[in-house]
This record gives sequence, C-alpha cells and structure tokens, in this order.
Amino acid sequence: MDDARYQIEDVKAREILDSRGIPTVEVDIEAGGEVFTASVPSGTSKGKREALELRDGGLRYQGMGVSKAVNNVNTLISQKLRFRDVTMQKDIDDLLIKLDGTENKSNLGANALLATSLAVCRAAASVQKKPLWKWISELSRRKPALPDPCILVMEGGSHGKGDLEIQEFMIVPEAKSFKEKLRISTEFYFKLGTILEKKYGRTSANTGLEGAFSPLIEDTEEALDIIAQAAKKLKIKNKVKIILDVAASGFCQKGKYFFEGEILNSEELKNFYLKICKKYPIFAIEDPFNQDDWEGFKELKSVLREKVTIIGDDLLTTNIGRIKEAADKRSCNGLVLKPNQVGTLSEAIEAGKEAISLGWEVFVKHRSGETKDDFISDLACGLGASYIMAGAPTRGERVTKYNRLLKIEEELTKFIA
Ligand code: PGA
Repeated sequence: MDDARYQIEDVKAREILDSRGIPTVEVDIEAGGEVFTASVPSGTSKGKREALELRDGGLRYQGMGVSKAVNNVNTLISQKLRFRDVTMQKDIDDLLIKLDGTENKSNLGANALLATSLAVCRAAASVQKKPLWKWISELSRRKPALPDPCILVMEGGSHGKGDLEIQEFMIVPEAKSFKEKLRISTEFYFKLGTILEKKYGRTSANTGLEGAFSPLIEDTEEALDIIAQAAKKLKIKNKVKIILDVAASGFCQKGKYFFEGEILNSEELKNFYLKICKKYPIFAIEDPFNQDDWEGFKELKSVLREKVTIIGDDLLTTNIGRIKEAADKRSCNGLVLKPNQVGTLSEAIEAGKEAISLGWEVFVKHRSGETKDDFISDLACGLGASYIMAGAPTRGERVTKYNRLLKIEEELTKFIA
C-alpha cells in the first residue's frame, strides 16, 4: 500500500428509506479519516433480468426490509474490503462479484454490492481530491461531457395515479447551457400543471412516483396535445422534443398489448407509434414493446430508421450481453443505463461504453424509488453520456440530480479552462 490515505479503514451499511417509503441500502466507506456515503435506488416496474435486490421477506416492512443485504455488507464485504486501496475500483468490483458468486447477484444482493461499489468510487475521488465526475471519466477513459436533461412532465402506467397507459412523457428543450435547459423545463412543467388544472380540475395536477403530473386522461394523444399546448403557450414549440418511456412490459400479457381499451398485437402497436411520431416531435421511444419482443423493437427501428431513437431499458437491463444481442438483432440504438440493474459501477460503465462504441445514445437514468444520492449526475458526465433522465424538476430526490449538474457545469468550465 503506497498511500495510507487510500486505504479502506471501515465499511458500514444501514437500512434507510427510499422516496416511496421502501427500505434500501446505504453504505459508508471510511478512508483517509473521512466517511463517504452512497445509497441505491430501486425500481417499481423492473425488467425481469435485472440483478436481484435482496429483500428480507416476512412481516417487517411488508417483506421489503433489506437487513440481510445490510448484514452482508457489515460482515463478509466489510472483512474483505478493509485495508484495500480505494482507488482500485475494478479490482474491488471484481472482488464483490466473486464474493457473491451468482449470475444475478442473488447471494449477497445487488443492493448490497452497488451501494458499496458507489461509496468506494466516491471515497476514491475525494481522497484524490478530484470531482467525482472527473474520477469516473478516468475510470471509464471517456471525455467528460454534460448530459442533456430529459425532464419528466407527465407519468402514467405503474408510476402514475391517473389513467395514462404510457409510463413517462419527458421533454428535452434546446438551449445553450444545462442551466437554461433546466429553467425552460421547469417553466414548462408549471405551465403544464396550470393547463391540466384548468382543463381537468385540481386532481389532475396530482403527481406520480417521480414527481410529474399524473392526470386522469386515458388517451396518449390527448396528453401529447396538452404538452404541445404548453410548448405553444411558452412560445418554444420548435425548441422542445419529446421522449416517451412506454414501459410496454407493464401492459403486455402473453404477447398481446392491452392498450387504451384495445388488445393490440406488435404490428398494431407499431402503427400507433408511427402515427404519433408523424404528429408530434417525438425523438426517442423507450421500451416500446415487451422485454422479450425483439422483433417488435427491430421492426419499429427499421421503419423509423435514424429519425427516432429506440431505447432499451427492460429489454437490456444494463447488461452487456443483451446490448450485444440487441446490436446483432438491430433492435435498438439507445441504452437506458441504471447501475442497480447490474450491481457494480464497473459493469455499468462497461455497459455504457459498449453502447457508445456501437454509436448508440446513452440515457443514464434514476429509478422510481430514489434517495438523495446524486451519483448518477457525476456518472452521466464522467461517462460522457448524451442524456440524463432524473424525473420531474420537483421533489428533493429528483432535483438533487439536476442541482448537482448545475454545479458540475461550473466545475467543467473551470477544469477545461
Ligand atoms: P422503475 O421505472 O424505476 O420503476 O423501474 C422505470 C423507469 O423510470 O425507467
């Protein structure tokens, strides 16, 4: 060990609550006499191939407790990590993977592994006196860049309280700086709220799990019309693009899509997408089909060509094997990157780099159950990902990610100057 400051002195985990009031894992890494903390988010509409979040079962917290995962960090992981060099991220992640010993991290839990992996990274950046994004850019050997924010304005599906089938309606405004993009999106969000309230009553401005409006509208086109109306009122009609996260696995049963009161096959759902892509400024669609419907993804991508990015989330689950398969099958040209789908930072970085090497867009994304941890902001920047999706521009666990990027924007200017 060259430098005692880089040595891991202690590892300690605890059970905390996420933004839904569901337990999750937080880990402290002690190094150089200081303590560095990270926590993991958790999904509601998860892909079936995601790494396993270890939950206790039983009566406590309705079975959702994470005391077993916490215990795994406080015993086995802590023993093995103490006195290791905190800057050896890849070695530490490989060790975590080996200690777990399963394909899907079901032994120690991806929640135990990822919280540790992220806390190690945060500690390493700090003991080296580097901003976190800078250290991640060194780990990933990528040029840092600010991502564009994809701001969530309406939500339905399993995240919403209203009637929309599509899970997420996001906007990406055009502007010169991140700061301006955030301002425009936030003004947009509030304008949309006013329109919804006026048109459908106060309950239509209620919000879903990720802070966006969750109106009692059933019809996707009606929702898109209201989004278009908000853009028109703000006189930014040609400066706002739309991204949809359909999360189609949520309304698919036995290969049929139960969508807006109809039962559609893949072809019919594809035709619906083609229709709305013609009518509205949609520039990307996430999970337009079920997580096993490779053909559906491929067909849609081939018709829309490069005009609309087809993003895989549940389809890919940040898994490098699935990304390669999607490339072979020509099913996607965009990756949602969620570190907790895979379980260690190094694997998440590898997945992101693979997608970038294929010429895809990378969308670093939060989960519906979030904490105040803003790690993904530094990750998106350090990886040079094109986009970040961190929810609505309201609620502490969402805005902390955007606020961190405001600071990174200043830091980047300073570092590049
Ligand atoms: P989840 O949401 O975190 O509930 O899986 C999916 C998403 O926001 O893409």
